[in-house]
Amino acid sequence: MADLKFEVTRNPNPKPDAEREEIIKAPVFGANLTDHQVVVVWEKDKGWHSAQVIPYGPILMDPSAAVLHYGQEIFEGIKAYRHQDGSIWTFRPEANAKRLQKSAHRMALPELPTEIFIESLRQLIAVDGAWVPEPVDEKTLYIRPFEIAAENFLGVRAAHRAEFRVIASPVGPYFTGGLKPVSIWIALDSARAGKHGTGEAKTGGNYAASLLAQNEGYENGCSQVMFLDAETSTYIEELGGMNLFFVYKDGHVATPSLDGTILRGITRDSVVQLIKDRGLKIEERKITLDEVKSGITAGEIVEVFACGTAAVITPIGEFKSREGTIGFADAKPGELTSSLRAELTGIQYGTVADRHGWMHKL
Ligand code: PLP
Ligand code: COI
Repeated sequence: MADLKFEVTRNPNPKPDAEREEIIKAPVFGANLTDHQVVVVWEKDKGWHSAQVIPYGPILMDPSAAVLHYGQEIFEGIKAYRHQDGSIWTFRPEANAKRLQKSAHRMALPELPTEIFIESLRQLIAVDGAWVPEPVDEKTLYIRPFEIAAENFLGVRAAHRAEFRVIASPVGPYFTGGLKPVSIWIALDSARAGKHGTGEAKTGGNYAASLLAQNEGYENGCSQVMFLDAETSTYIEELGGMNLFFVYKDGHVATPSLDGTILRGITRDSVVQLIKDRGLKIEERKITLDEVKSGITAGEIVEVFACGTAAVITPIGEFKSREGTIGFADAKPGELTSSLRAELTGIQYGTVADRHGWMHKL
C-alpha cells in the first residue's frame, strides 16, 4: 500500500451546487451518483496498481469481459454519516474490507488489502464530501465498493485482470414510509443459496437469484423476500438484502446462525453486540419457519426486525406466502426494535457514545 498513491482527476463538470443540494434534500436510494469514482486495477503479474479518482462516468468495457459472462463480481455497502459539527464518518470499514476479501476468495477474485479499501473511501469523500447530506431523517451517503473480473477472455477460469471501483449515492431510508413495519414474502419455491455455495459472499449472482421471488413478493404487496434453507425449506435464512432478528416475550432474542449460506451482516454483528450490552440473552441458532409462525400466533414472538446497512433496523409487521398471512395486530414498531434502532443510528450520527470504537473519521 505504501507505494500505491492515488492520482486524482477532478470532474470538470460536477453537478451544479443547486442541483446537488436539491438531490440531497430528498434522496432516492441509488438514483443519483456523486461526481467521482475510484478505480484500482489488479493484474495477475503486477498485483494492485493504478489507483485513481476519476470523474463519474460509464465503464468502457469489452463485450468479452469475464464479468459479463460468468458473473465474477463482488460488492460492499457502507455509509458515510455527517455529524453535527460537519465532520464525515463511516461505520466499521475494516469489517467491510475483510468481508470483501472473503467474498473475493470465494469468487476467485484478488483480495484487496484493507488499507487500500479504507483509503479509497477517504479519497472519494475528499472530493465528494459535499454529497454527504445533513444528519436529518436518516440521510447518508451510501457507498458502493465493488470488484469485477475485467479480463477480455471467454475461457472459463478466474480472470487475470480485475478492477476495484467505488461509487456513491446520497440516500434516505431504504423503505419509504418511515418506521412503518414492512410486509415480507416467504419464498417457498425459490432458494437463494445452498450448502457450500456462494451465500456467504456478497456477489451479484445471489441477488439475481433473489429477484424472481422478489417480483412475486411485490405482486403480493411485500417489500422484501425471506429465504429458507435450500435443502429442506425448513430453516429461516435471511431476506434478499437484510438479516433477521426475532424478539421473544420473555425478553430473549434469536437470529439465524451463520452457517455459510447467509451474509455475515455487519449490522447483524453490531446488533448482537448491542443486545449483549443490555444484558439480554441473544441466541444465534437455527430457527424454523414453523417456530416463527406458531410463535407469532401464540404471542411468544413479540417483535421481528430486519437489519442491514441500507435498511438500518426495520420492523417487520407480517409474513405472507401462498399459504396465508401471519402478523402482528399492532401496526407500530416494537419497543426493542425502536430502541436498538435509536441507539445504532445515534452511534452512527455521533449523538450516542461510540463505546466499541466502531466509527472511523474519513
Ligand atoms: N444479507 C444480505 C443478503 C445483504 O445484502 C445485506 C446487506 O448488505 C445484509 C444481509 C446486511 O449486511 P450489512 O449489515 O453488512 O449491510
Ligand atoms: C446493503 O445494505 O448494503 C445492501 O447491499 C443491501 C441492498 C438491499 C442494497
